[in-house]
Amino acid sequence: MLSIRANISASNFLRHVLDMLLLRPMTLKDVDEVTALDQRAFGESGWSRRHFVGEISDSPISIFYVLTDSAGSNSALLGSNSALLGSNSALLGYFGTWHIVDQLQLCTFAVDPERHGQGLGAILLNCVFRLAQRLECEVIQLEVRESNVAARTLYRSRGFQEEAVRRNLYSKPNEDGILMSIETPSASFPGASDPAGLKQPQPIELRWNDRAGASVERWP
Ligand SMILES: CC(C)(COP(=O)(O)OP(=O)(O)OC[C@H]1O[C@@H](n2cnc3c(N)ncnc32)[C@H](O)[C@@H]1OP(=O)(O)O)[C@@H](O)C(=O)NCCC(=O)NCCS
Repeated sequence: MLSIRANISASNFLRHVLDMLLLRPMTLKDVDEVTALDQRAFGESGWSRRHFVGEISDSPISIFYVLTDSAGSNSALLGSNSALLGSNSALLGYFGTWHIVDQLQLCTFAVDPERHGQGLGAILLNCVFRLAQRLECEVIQLEVRESNVAARTLYRSRGFQEEAVRRNLYSKPNEDGILMSIETPSASFPGASDPAGLKQPQPIELRWNDRAGASVERWP
């Protein structure tokens, strides 16, 4: 610790710590912020607060995670400086899945619109791949609006195949859905030499706690 502090200035040290990303299970305390982000990302067709509460409280198949910037995870490193950072970390994105036997269904997935195009969607998708590996799922499936070019391009670029069209799957506005799927990648995470295909490489800590157990990983 002392050698780290000696090698970088105090402000760089804080920036380094603040630049950490954290993936952790979504809790009831996150729901207001997640619902607000969901409304910004999906507009009228977004999920209600009640919907998120039901998913994380009452659904045995649901597994939901949030991505934040992560001063909190480094409070031990920061020591007395942690007061400077406040207790809140910003919500950057989230995903929700349904675990059904050997399949993982990605049922919701979004990045804060103010942070689009910075590689966070790719990071979150890699976290979904990692979750599927942990749960020993063979296949990951999802549905996406036909007009959602950004998401379809992301999924295709990471190996998802478009399998079928679901007529009038969506409302507000009415639209067809595209069913996409991928066999769970076997690598520990895709693109390991170029972590998550990051445009602005940032280390990420993954705090897993789900039916595959509790553990902590760090990328890279
Ligand atoms: C889809 C979404 C998650 C992408 O998040 P993001 O952080 O902006 O994406 P990234 O910066 O990680 O980009 C990863 C890849 O996505 C694709 N992509 C992202 N934005 C794109 C756009 N506007 N047009 C085309 N492709 C795009 C590209 O393939 C990109 O890889 P590249 O930069 O190597 O070309 C984000 O747009 C979002 O939250 N949208 C609203 C909610 C939503 O539609 N969720 C999906 C529901 S199925």
